[in-house]
Amino acid sequence: MEKLKINISGPLRGSVRVPGDKSISHRAVMLGAIAEGTSRVSGFLTGEDSVNTAKAFAALGVEIDGLGGSELVIHGVGLHGLKAPVGALDLGNSGTSIRLLAGLLCAQDFPITLSGDRYLKKRPMTRIVKPLSQMGAIIFGEGEKNYPPLQIKPCGRLKGIDYSSPIASAQVKSAVLLAGLYAEGTTTVTEPMKSRDHTERMLRYMGAEVNVERLSVSITGGQRLVARDFTVPGDISSAAFPMVAAAIVPGSKVTIKDVGINPTRTGIIDILRMMNARITVDNVREDGPEPIADITVEHSKLRGIGVDGELFLRAIDEFPIICIAAAAANGTTVIKDAAELRVKESDRISAMAGELSKIGVKVVETPDGMIIHGGTPFHAAEVDSHGDHRVAMSMAVAGLIAHGGDMVINDTENIRTSFPGFMELLESLK
Ligand code: S3P
Repeated sequence: MEKLKINISGPLRGSVRVPGDKSISHRAVMLGAIAEGTSRVSGFLTGEDSVNTAKAFAALGVEIDGLGGSELVIHGVGLHGLKAPVGALDLGNSGTSIRLLAGLLCAQDFPITLSGDRYLKKRPMTRIVKPLSQMGAIIFGEGEKNYPPLQIKPCGRLKGIDYSSPIASAQVKSAVLLAGLYAEGTTTVTEPMKSRDHTERMLRYMGAEVNVERLSVSITGGQRLVARDFTVPGDISSAAFPMVAAAIVPGSKVTIKDVGINPTRTGIIDILRMMNARITVDNVREDGPEPIADITVEHSKLRGIGVDGELFLRAIDEFPIICIAAAAANGTTVIKDAAELRVKESDRISAMAGELSKIGVKVVETPDGMIIHGGTPFHAAEVDSHGDHRVAMSMAVAGLIAHGGDMVINDTENIRTSFPGFMELLESLK
């Protein structure tokens, strides 16, 4: 089991780039694979999650040059060109891979098994099994919650549906839209709040017509995708770690260049600003389907705030690092509407409550969030990642301002799923 020891102290200063956006990397390879022609993708995330998606398409007969690296050339096979894989597709730790692939693959005319690691096997798949079954797919997992492995059987032509999702989830929305690409007629997904829209943007970028009306997104089946080149922006969910580090370590000033600033993802900027962080967003530009910018954060005295609803959704993956900012801030932070966090890579509410307590932070776990009484100095301790990359990196950032020795984080190999080079990046800012 790998461990991280944080013995960095003093201000963080400099300019860095973070690895490519995980959500966009998944979609780039998925849509590139079923497009017609060759797509060149730069800045692809070399983390295990997105590489597992790319490997799955290689197993489905798609030629991908540069597999494992950040420059991919994807030789698209068209909507109906995928081939039966040998054995199950192993998607490792990646919930996005398994859920989106389930949608994209449930209309194929060969059986498929989608599997993953021990953490993925504990994540509920009913949220996608239900709408995909309504479309006519034959798909099921284990037990009532349809845990992976997921079995998909040939089902003939899918039919378009009008689906009202009970949760705001880009994974559910994307799975249904990707199945909709193969369905007869139009498929519409309506969600209670707007989740990240990378799938819609990339489908359009590759020539598909996607209609968006407030919280509903529709696609008509049978549309062909055209291969396009593009550069994956830096992942704002990874940038969030050096952003919070700069905000809480006295004397720091850090710029993160070329970060994706899709408005469905920028909750972390708004939340930190509400906490009184000093943030500038410069050089805003469009690159392909997504907006990007350079983000600079300087240290300041943070204060506690309330986070809920859409603001929380726009920062859903940033909960662990927001907890660290809140714990370092003066006053109380109340996070609500976050029950989804209980079924992420770990139960992030209970994981963060447990680990924050170990370093002396006063927290109260609630069913859908957390109350954090900030401002007490952190004391260094040996903490655990719960198998979750974002918990591991958040506790590493806490270690930058912990007193009384070095923070040690156990079980940190999972950092490679989303942020290869995380420690090297922190060290480069010393
Ligand atoms: C993702 C959507 C979110 C997010 C996950 C990536 C995506 O999950 O938490 O890390 O790429 O579609 P949900 O859509 O299930 O909330």
